[in-house]
Amino acid sequence: MIVVPGTASQVLAHGVAEHLGAELASVTCRRFPDGELYLRIETDFSGEECVVVQSTPPPQDRNIFELLSLLETLKEGGAAEVTAVVPYFAYGRQDRRFMEGEAVTSRVLARHVSVHADRCVTVNLHKSSILDYFEVDATELDASPLLGEHLRPGVSRRSVVIAPDAGAAWMAQRVAEVLGCRHDYLEKKRLGPGEVVLKQKELEVEEEVVLVDDIIDSGGSMVEALRALRSQGAERVHIACVHALATGSAIARLLASGAERVAGTDTVPSQVSVVSVAGLVAKALK
Ligand code: R5P
Repeated sequence: MIVVPGTASQVLAHGVAEHLGAELASVTCRRFPDGELYLRIETDFSGEECVVVQSTPPPQDRNIFELLSLLETLKEGGAAEVTAVVPYFAYGRQDRRFMEGEAVTSRVLARHVSVHADRCVTVNLHKSSILDYFEVDATELDASPLLGEHLRPGVSRRSVVIAPDAGAAWMAQRVAEVLGCRHDYLEKKRLGPGEVVLKQKELEVEEEVVLVDDIIDSGGSMVEALRALRSQGAERVHIACVHALATGSAIARLLASGAERVAGTDTVPSQVSVVSVAGLVAKALK
């Protein structure tokens, strides 16, 4: 098996290759002066089982084009089997048509991946229903237990795990199972990108709280949740997410708002990517 690293997931690809005892391919990827992509896989992959590891955080469309180019090059070049590992699957929040005429961009991406990959492995899709958009076998892995394991040494069993909205409530439950504590969720209404309000909801809040979500983008959802929990008596709030897109000053906003710490996984390389999904991904590929 050969693991082919995309530029958005170089360290993770190396980790996956190590876990599998597989070869890490050598890839040249650079840009022409006008910004177009030049890509060459130098390792001989003909007849091999190949795994491309390429996440699709910002700049999404660049990372997606690189992913599709890697997949196409392998398939057309005679790889025996091509698996796309897309740790963060972009456009998950456009999982359906909310208004007439809108592009369902998560479906566009799933279908394009299906053209050149025999299989896709991804981690915590924003909506699991996106799996139905693939025309090849697609697997969604759950990294929330890994977040729980990471947090466990510093978090008391008397704490409570809370999701900032109902959509992430199941993740809070998974993390709580690992920590051996209670879980609950807040109710959020999105007013626009980066702008959310929380509905009034009294929770049984403990002194120590773990806030868990799939994505931290602008940080707006977590900041609002953190404020609501502090006003209800939380003193120490740990923040964890799978995909730390952390655009702009999201992490600084969270820390300035009083978060004890912010932890994410390496599905997206960021300043808070302290939990690796390499073992989880490798296990799914074995
Ligand atoms: C949305 O429902 C997601 O689960 C996240 O809560 C959201 O994407 C986070 O975005 P932001 O950090 O900009 O509030």
